[in-house]
Amino acid sequence: MIITKLQFEGFRNLDDGEILPDSGVNVVFGTNAQGKTNLLEGIWLLSGNKSFRGSRDSELIKFGKDYARLKIDFFAEDRVQNAEILFLKGKKEVKINGVKKNSVSALIGKLCVVVFSPEHLSLVKSGPAERRKFIDNAICQIKPSYGEALSNYNKILAQRNALLKDIPMHSELLDTLDIWDYRLAVLGASVTRMRINYVERLSESAKIYHMGISESMEDLDINYSCITPKDYCSSGMQIRDYLSEKIRENRTEDLKDGYTSIGPHRDDLEILINGENARTFGSQGQQRSCVLSIKIAEAELIKIATSQEPVVLLDDVLSELDSKRQEFLLNKIFDRQVFISCCEAASVERLKGGRLFEVKKGVVKNY
Ligand SMILES: Nc1ncnc2c1ncn2[C@@H]1O[C@H](COP(=O)(O)OP(=O)(O)OP(=O)(O)O)[C@@H](O)[C@H]1O
Ligand SMILES: [Mg+2]
Repeated sequence: MIITKLQFEGFRNLDDGEILPDSGVNVVFGTNAQGKTNLLEGIWLLSGNKSFRGSRDSELIKFGKDYARLKIDFFAEDRVQNAEILFLKGKKEVKINGVKKNSVSALIGKLCVVVFSPEHLSLVKSGPAERRKFIDNAICQIKPSYGEALSNYNKILAQRNALLKDIPMHSELLDTLDIWDYRLAVLGASVTRMRINYVERLSESAKIYHMGISESMEDLDINYSCITPKDYCSSGMQIRDYLSEKIRENRTEDLKDGYTSIGPHRDDLEILINGENARTFGSQGQQRSCVLSIKIAEAELIKIATSQEPVVLLDDVLSELDSKRQEFLLNKIFDRQVFISCCEAASVERLKGGRLFEVKKGVVKNY
């Protein structure tokens, strides 16, 4: 998948204009607060996702304007296609190949994009919830049945938790808990199995990229960490039986706490560099490199699942990386379209091919 043209009108601080990107590496550079992230965010929104900065739609429209329009021409599924989003105050209009769509979600899967922004460092730095969110989003992109399994699991979990809180006042409800326990184990096993499968493949691919970034100095391992021992994780049925047993064992505790203590909602990803936990022992540069390797591996798995090469957006990744790691990112890994934003002119000089765009006070120009 290659973006051949991006047009923007009334979007953030950007002056109305367009860019014609290279099919390989595109470096977007400029000093702070000029509009680099805004440009990358524009591409990201056209993939049908919500802003990676957590912004509201109304914040995307340029101050003093009534609407913002993003339009993209891209080559995918062997043909040139286009997509457009019009942000009006309070609503959005979407068109794909000139045809009006009911919702922005129609764009999902049309233009596949993977983004790394400094916020994604939370994947290593923050608690397990961020890591679970990452795997859930990543699997949803390539396996729609996962989204359904996860949402069913979450519903059962919420119902079981509500029941746990009710039982102390209504002891007659205790008998019904068995049904919820069983459903929780069945759905929990299915979610766990799909996550394990994804993480195994992600880990294999991320390990290779990380070897490249670190010049073979660092061995990256990602493991899915859950209550079920590894020996029982090879089939969904074994996980279900193990979860069932543990849920039963913890019932008294759960009733006391009014909360379900066992299941994939408590699982985590273990991210290790040379066998040490990246969160506790990783340096800033190592943490950044390892999230990058994971993000590029995510793109690789999207490609395998959809046969479409996702566009990769790397916002502000080069800071904190030494010159060799920057060199690897700019020139060695990409057989796909990438947009990298950075501030330092020195990084730009390391780019051997591709195209450069300078962003100055919202004006985006070929450099
Ligand atoms: N809706 C809007 N209308 C006008 N300007 C906006 C709007 N939203 C954001 N901006 C401005 O856009 C400017 C550029 O933001 P952006 O995050 O793209 O900068 P950047 O070039 O990525 O900088 P940095 O190097 O610091 O990350 C900010 O100063 C912000 O105030
Ligand atoms: Mg920025």
